[in-house]
Amino acid sequence: MIVDTKAKIVENRFISGKTWIMKLEAPQITKNSKPAQFVMIKPTLENYYDPLLRRAFAVADVEDENIVVYYDIHGRGTYYLSTLKTGDSVDVLGPLGNNLFPENYDKYIIVGGGIGFAGLSLLMKRLREKGKGFVSLYGARSKDELSMIDWIKENNFDVIFYTDDGSFGKRGLITQDLESLIRENLNSALAVCGPTPMMRAVSKIAKSLNIPCYLSLETKMACGIGICIGCVVKDVQSDNYVRVCYEGPVFEASQIEL
Ligand SMILES: Cc1cc2nc3c(=O)[nH]c(=O)nc-3n(C[C@H](O)[C@H](O)[C@H](O)COP(=O)(O)OP(=O)(O)OC[C@H]3O[C@@H](n4cnc5c(N)ncnc54)[C@H](O)[C@@H]3O)c2cc1C
Ligand code: FES
Repeated sequence: MIVDTKAKIVENRFISGKTWIMKLEAPQITKNSKPAQFVMIKPTLENYYDPLLRRAFAVADVEDENIVVYYDIHGRGTYYLSTLKTGDSVDVLGPLGNNLFPENYDKYIIVGGGIGFAGLSLLMKRLREKGKGFVSLYGARSKDELSMIDWIKENNFDVIFYTDDGSFGKRGLITQDLESLIRENLNSALAVCGPTPMMRAVSKIAKSLNIPCYLSLETKMACGIGICIGCVVKDVQSDNYVRVCYEGPVFEASQIEL
């Protein structure tokens, strides 16, 4: 069930690079959120309407009654979000998104680029709870963009890290070992979230090795609930357009044009 609520900010702090973490008390959203679902957060306080539209953020984790969001400062909305204080309340709509990662695979190879890792972290938790296997890859330009390192340590996950400049983990692109990892895990599916060029590269490798590849997309969104048609991508199978917020956010890579 989608809830439109006022949520109290219990934490809002800088982590590293351009990333902040926000924890919001939103029990009705917490108990319903599934991996790849997201919330729309109004970045300003009550009675302020500039910027007007809510912004979309993945539910990166849930902790008791709190949802946890990692956000990069990108433009005005996320800048305003970073100025809010503990104890302030914001409008939150969620959990949103209908098409999620399929549950019928025994194993996933999880590929997260930059802030896109926040779209996959809840999947890792849920897979572990269900006793399913997964291999996780996390790449960014440099260490300060790997903003979920502490979360990974706190939750005892094994993750293979990549940075372009070699400042943490392996030097180079997240795709460099992917072919061999897929060959070692042939009955897996890929779960991917990150910058478009990375998702394209991963999709290409998946296609060449004939492995299912599910992309969690992050297009610009105005409403988040299927009304404005602002978030569409081309569905190449039906030769039509699909709404990322409503028919997505997860799509099989061969279904859509990136
Ligand atoms: C499902 C999903 C999950 C996401 N998860 C995360 C996350 O976990 N962490 C993170 O950092 N980022 C995430 N993003 C990206 C995040 O929503 C954007 O970075 C954020 O909206 C930028 O807001 P801004 O005001 O700072 O930037 P700006 O570029 O100033 O504003 C972007 C906003 O303007 C509006 N807008 C602009 N153009 C259009 C248009 N053509 N149609 C409709 N609306 C428009 C939308 O409200 C849009 O969100 C996610 C996006 C999606 C769709
Ligand atoms: S954001 Fe309005 S239809 Fe998807």
